[in-house]
Amino acid sequence: MSHGDLTTNVAMQVSKKVGKSPIDIAKELINELEASEDIESAEIAGPGFININLTIAARLKLLLRAQDVCSPQKERSKEAPIVVEYSSPNIAKPLGVHHILSTVIGQVIANLYRHLGYKVITVNHIGDWGTQFGKLAVADKKWGEKDMKDCGVEDLLALYVRFHDESEKDAGLEDEARAAFKSLEQGDKEMREFWKKVVDISMREIKETYKRLNVSIDHDHGESFYEDKMLSLLDEGRKSGVFKEGEKGALIAEFPEESNLPPAIVLKADGSTIYHTRDLAVIKYRMGEWHPKSSLYVVDISQKLHFEQLFAMAKQLKWDLPELEHVIFGHMSLPDAKMSTRKGNIIRLEDALDEAVNRADKLIAERETIVPEEDKEELSEMVGIGAFVYTILSQNRKSNIVFTWDKAMTFEGNSGPYVQYTHARAKSVLEKAEVDQIDPPSDIESLENHELMLMRHMAKFPAALEQARKDAMPHKLTQYLYELCQIYNSMYNALPIIKADEPQKTLRLALTKLTADILKTGADILTIRVPDRM
Ligand code: ARG
Repeated sequence: MSHGDLTTNVAMQVSKKVGKSPIDIAKELINELEASEDIESAEIAGPGFININLTIAARLKLLLRAQDVCSPQKERSKEAPIVVEYSSPNIAKPLGVHHILSTVIGQVIANLYRHLGYKVITVNHIGDWGTQFGKLAVADKKWGEKDMKDCGVEDLLALYVRFHDESEKDAGLEDEARAAFKSLEQGDKEMREFWKKVVDISMREIKETYKRLNVSIDHDHGESFYEDKMLSLLDEGRKSGVFKEGEKGALIAEFPEESNLPPAIVLKADGSTIYHTRDLAVIKYRMGEWHPKSSLYVVDISQKLHFEQLFAMAKQLKWDLPELEHVIFGHMSLPDAKMSTRKGNIIRLEDALDEAVNRADKLIAERETIVPEEDKEELSEMVGIGAFVYTILSQNRKSNIVFTWDKAMTFEGNSGPYVQYTHARAKSVLEKAEVDQIDPPSDIESLENHELMLMRHMAKFPAALEQARKDAMPHKLTQYLYELCQIYNSMYNALPIIKADEPQKTLRLALTKLTADILKTGADILTIRVPDRM
């Protein structure tokens, strides 16, 4: 039995301090450890590692803990909430494929916190303010064929693309767009109505996509929401000397030499506020409203400087700040060349999801399946979107995300369909055995290696969830689930389950049930649906 249930290097760690050799310390510790009723044996390995083997009873107790963490954990009702901001698209055009990154990574981080009992408030910081609205207004006036209220997001995209094409020939258009946005800022009634219609059209479509992705966000607070919340903080910063007059009346913040941060503008010379300014108002608003313990911003790595400057400014203003963290992610390579040539040079997220579902449909058709005809469409949606999302979540978010259809769309390896398939397999074993709820037997005297491996891995489920939450790293959860699938499948292939003698039959069915439960819990957190049959 290699490795043991637990391994520790504590003897090596404290050796210097205690003034004894690691081996001597380990020997002493082992004497103590072996007195515990949960420990079967402990032994020294290598230069002073201690490998601990638990009793079967202790291993069964750990399964109960893994089972318990499949349900949402008790709410930490006395703690201040965690604010998680994600998705945050710039609207007036359709969601592009890259928007999926913040959207699903953010949702998973929020789900992890919630599942583990934290109070969580989620926010969508929608880019609903900016010259893109001016551009659209100009395009609509010149070339718009329909009434705005009959337009869909494709019509907005067509106008947007037209504006860009025409403005290459006519530079004056850009000025017109800026002027149109200016009049929106100044409260022009007609522009305001136009803006509202565009926001509604965009949000309607965005919500549809969120539904497909199992994403739901508590608050939509667009940038426009902060329009009336900036003046007071500009005053505050001016008075305290944090914001200084720059050229022609602009306001800027400067940072200490050692921070290596370039100055940040908070008010332009023409009196308009910018992205930075709104984000300061965001911090202030969330503090006042929710008093969070921490605030996470799930945003592309290209905004690193923005957030560094922002957090530095907030500190200079001496606000009583929560922990602020920019949860970065890298860029994603495009799914395939064909898609990148679509109109407007954007790959629409909806198109990419449809493509994933089509591919899933073909993938499923190649296999034998027990799914009735009428459920097949649903299954393709589940597998296609699950595969797409999983391949993103299974990569370390801090690196660039590599997307290939081949890696995503397969029933083998670290993929969504593999996890879904393993869940369906475990469920079908339970169905065949006609068991619903099953506890492991208490009279087990010895374990087969496959059973032991599975039980050891299951015991790590609570820690895997906690680690994924703490580091805000969804791939730590996918990795855990992937390994669980491998270990379960190898037990499935090596040992009889339903045909085994007792008490092995009950044990293996209980392990099958727990495998299904852990996979379902993990998949839910990952926004991925898992089928009962496949
Ligand atoms: N709308 C921005 C963009 O698409 C992202 C917003 C990030 N959040 C924030 N609080 N600045 O680039």
